[in-house]
Amino acid sequence: MDWGLKNRLSRIIQPEDNRVIMLAVDHGYFLGPISGLEEPQKTIVPLMPHADALMLTRGLLRNCIPPDSNTPIVLRMSGATSIERDILPDEGLTVSLEDAVRLNVAAITLSIFVGTEHERQTLEALSELVDFGEEYGIPVLAVTAVGRELGKKDARYLSLACRIAAEQGAHFVKTYFCDDFEKVTSSAMVPIVIAGGRKCETEMDVFEMVYEALEQGAAGCDMGRNIFQNPHPLAMIQSVRAIVHGNAKPKEALEMYNELKVEKVAAV
Ligand code: 5RP
Repeated sequence: MDWGLKNRLSRIIQPEDNRVIMLAVDHGYFLGPISGLEEPQKTIVPLMPHADALMLTRGLLRNCIPPDSNTPIVLRMSGATSIERDILPDEGLTVSLEDAVRLNVAAITLSIFVGTEHERQTLEALSELVDFGEEYGIPVLAVTAVGRELGKKDARYLSLACRIAAEQGAHFVKTYFCDDFEKVTSSAMVPIVIAGGRKCETEMDVFEMVYEALEQGAAGCDMGRNIFQNPHPLAMIQSVRAIVHGNAKPKEALEMYNELKVEKVAAV
């Protein structure tokens, strides 16, 4: 791996423990103003000091994120679909590579849809980003398995999709947690981060998922809704961070969450 690419990647996956907590706020690219991100700046900016990186679109970046911020940016490069049409896998690249450089991003990302009729176009787009990333020293994050179309997301499917992404040259891969997750991480060749998925019923469910994923070889998480849709997002991100970087157990994270949410309420 070339120096520049390694340097950018180490701004995201922290070299001290090889772990990462990213805040994913790119959902609007196909979901519009989803709950929690109606006024993105109000939600995102206070959370940024607790995230190792921010995953988002260029529109959100330019409109809502202060340009003097130091949080590394993972820029979504794919899209051109919406929830209105129910064919989410039909994505293409929507951002020029020059614009990613102009925005001084730490990594670029896109979704791939292995096993759908759009598999080929999304894997070719991944290859295009990897060619560019290798040339200019920008790591590529492949996102696998988003959307209802894919049905069951089990270890067999997720290890297939993650390994294919790594074989195409992705430098790290984002996927969902599942039973036998170690099968996914151990065969992926590159770091795996988990998405949070739909909002879980309880905070403890989130903490247990993150803890288990790390125990089974994940490098961390790239979490969105389970942080920004929580009634106490600031308490939530700090508690997830304590698991990722502080080796906190789920029970300790819950205690932390309960303390922080009270402090926040008291401060208002
Ligand atoms: C959508 C994405 C999202 O960033 C991803 O789903 C993570 O967010 P969440 O934790 O809410 O699932 O890549 O394509």
